[in-house]
Amino acid sequence: MSEARNAPIIELRNVAKRFGALVVLDNLNLSIEEGKTTVVIGESGTGKSVLLKHIVGLLRPDSGEVFFQNTRIDNLDEEGLVPFRRRMGFLFQLSALFDSMSVGENVAFPVLQHSAKSAVKTDEIVAETLRKVGLEGFQNRRPGELSGGQKKRVALARAIALNPEVVLYDEPTTGLDPVRADVINELILKMGRELKATSIVVTHDMISAYKVAHRIVMLDKGRIIADGPPDYFRKTDDQKSDDLSMAVPRPRI
Ligand SMILES: Nc1ncnc2c1ncn2[C@@H]1O[C@H](COP(=O)(O)OP(=O)(O)OP(=O)(O)O)[C@@H](O)[C@H]1O
Ligand SMILES: [Mg+2]
Repeated sequence: MSEARNAPIIELRNVAKRFGALVVLDNLNLSIEEGKTTVVIGESGTGKSVLLKHIVGLLRPDSGEVFFQNTRIDNLDEEGLVPFRRRMGFLFQLSALFDSMSVGENVAFPVLQHSAKSAVKTDEIVAETLRKVGLEGFQNRRPGELSGGQKKRVALARAIALNPEVVLYDEPTTGLDPVRADVINELILKMGRELKATSIVVTHDMISAYKVAHRIVMLDKGRIIADGPPDYFRKTDDQKSDDLSMAVPRPRI
């Protein structure tokens, strides 16, 4: 395999971020392999969402560097970030739909913002993406009329509408019952399989983590304290003996 193929698609080098006196990312290093699904776990408030926001440039590191395919992106201005953001889809933790817009307009938003598609083409993309997430024909519904699981799927449709190379999912299954959570897990797997997307999934849901991950990374106080394939965490979880197993969150369903 050539060196280029082994190069990480995303890399954080010594990224530090604090808010006031609170150190959130503590010289964090993380390389994300192309085409794989990396799951990030860790207790509430440990910096998982802050980490994702550094990858898409919604937050800037105090020090350290963020790379997208060997291009440094943390020091780009908003305009410079546009071509990189177009290649990444972000499912926000709280879905963050625009309540004043219809479902169709929500999904069309990144298509209109990031590409020069015609109105007809945009409508086609919206219809096709809604079908993919199991919400065919929902274009004219309002976010306020939808269930939590449906809102998550609309947010997911918005994140994947432009077939991004990298999809970042922040708590995609939180608050969903096991059946609806599994619909989302299947969609994450499908994105990887059919679009060869690279996925980064932040979750508290260990059932979801074990189902979708090629690799699990555990954050604690802004540092990575465990990193390995799902089996490594499953075994540690089963042993319940040492400090690490104490730190692995139990599945919440
Ligand atoms: N924009 C901000 N300004 C100030 N503090 C922030 C900001 N964003 C995050 N924080 C703080 O940084 C810490 C890490 O936040 P983050 O949202 O990354 O946690 P998390 O690991 O995603 O937690 P959860 O599992 O509850 O979603 C928290 O203490 C949070 O209050
Ligand atoms: Mg979070």
